[in-house]
Amino acid sequence: MLVTETTEKKSKLKSLDTLFIKTYGCAMNVYDSSRMSDLMQSAYGLRIVDEPADADVILMNTCSIRENAENKVYSELGRYKKIKDKRPDLIIGVGGCVGQQEGERIQQRAPYVDIVFGPQTYHRLPEMVKEIRRNRVNLTETDMPEIEKFDHLPKPKVEGLTGYVTIMEGCDKFCTFCIVPYTRGAEISRPPEDILKECQQLIDAGAKDISLLGQNVNAYHCENEDGETVGFADLLHLVGGLEGMERLRFSTSHPMEMTTELCEAFAEIPTLMPYLHLPVQSGSDVILKAMHRGHKRDDYFKAIDELRLHTPDIALSSDFIVGFPGETEEDFEMTLDLVRKVGYDSAFSFKYSPRPGTPAAKAEDDVPEHVKDERLQRLLALLREQSRERMEKQVGKTSQVLVESKGKNEGDLQGRTPDFRIVHFKGNPRLIGQTMPVKITAAYNMSLRGELLIED
Ligand code: SAH
Ligand code: SF4
Ligand code: F3S
Repeated sequence: MLVTETTEKKSKLKSLDTLFIKTYGCAMNVYDSSRMSDLMQSAYGLRIVDEPADADVILMNTCSIRENAENKVYSELGRYKKIKDKRPDLIIGVGGCVGQQEGERIQQRAPYVDIVFGPQTYHRLPEMVKEIRRNRVNLTETDMPEIEKFDHLPKPKVEGLTGYVTIMEGCDKFCTFCIVPYTRGAEISRPPEDILKECQQLIDAGAKDISLLGQNVNAYHCENEDGETVGFADLLHLVGGLEGMERLRFSTSHPMEMTTELCEAFAEIPTLMPYLHLPVQSGSDVILKAMHRGHKRDDYFKAIDELRLHTPDIALSSDFIVGFPGETEEDFEMTLDLVRKVGYDSAFSFKYSPRPGTPAAKAEDDVPEHVKDERLQRLLALLREQSRERMEKQVGKTSQVLVESKGKNEGDLQGRTPDFRIVHFKGNPRLIGQTMPVKITAAYNMSLRGELLIED
């Protein structure tokens, strides 16, 4: 732990009551934020508030995946400084991937930040807060211990019906555009017994839709207590078979590790939901190679064919980057062609932005901004059209919908189909938490409309 003395006077200690957490980035950050909140609740009894102005402790859980990440953090911090000017006891912490990457630089630029920490050290937050309250020092905790954090976290709490469990940390793939291997560290899998325990705790606390998280979940492998290696497909069988498991999902997987066992798992495990996010980034072999993705477009097609052989209706989603250095119009058209051939239900598309410290950032960012914009628009238009067509195909089908909440309109409920589509329908709020048959009657861009098939 790096400790910097500040000139600030020791102030009389006020009790800590409230916590505000601002979360950016991927599902792993969302998971980490909920664990930080569990931790601070159990250590200090802190209550979560919705407004930073009401908080005694403000934590930012940051993301550095795309451009402007650092600037966004500093401008948000500017808002918190105004609160701290009025209430000097306020504790401000910056965690997550920007925290890891920037380390002490954050406090050099924003000296009112008390704690900087990374994704692998947030379990030490209670200790750090104690240290700050005792000595009013600035702390930086950005070393990367071998996932010790999971051994120091309290039981997870469940809000609503969805639960998340991180099954592995870090990434060893080093795609040339990506910052994650530098911010999250090396790929490490959690022991299967720990994962099963945490999933069971979530189920017992009411979770009905559980997602296993990691940057590359299908690279998962870890020895169990008997010394046998458990791979990702094995883990899915174990978790999917837990007493009380209703719906199981996972994210994100990498095309390089789409094994036959994994493709078959969707058909073999009744609780594993037919939805897969399988980012491809580009449809051009030249660009895939420059990105160091480790596979060709044909390998991706093979994986999709194998998945659909066993689970024809599986919903597919992906990530795309347009305007990677050297991407020509022909390369980009290969991406459009891949999209047409695969057929996606949903997708995320991004303009390439160089991330400092990554290999691709050394190459010239040579695709002009207006070309990136134009390619992004063409890709988005195609993906929108596809997604809409695939939504239309749901009309007339009957789906088992997990009822999640009331809808926005009076008398409406909102739920999810097994393939992760949102459905609105009329029904009694006491159905929330149950899975009900719903006949789909209309399709929109982002959601469906339906009718309950069982009288409530
Ligand atoms: N582990 C996942 C992706 C994690 S990052 C995988 O391998 O697929 C989420 C997405 O952000 C990536 O899939 C990519 O599409 C996008 N992304 C990452 N770095 C980027 C960059 N430098 N510029 C633009 N988009 C980027
Ligand atoms: Fe980044 Fe590639 Fe790792 Fe995904 S697989 S997190 S894109 S380096
Ligand atoms: Fe962002 Fe870090 Fe996730 S960079 S996408 S929060 S792993």
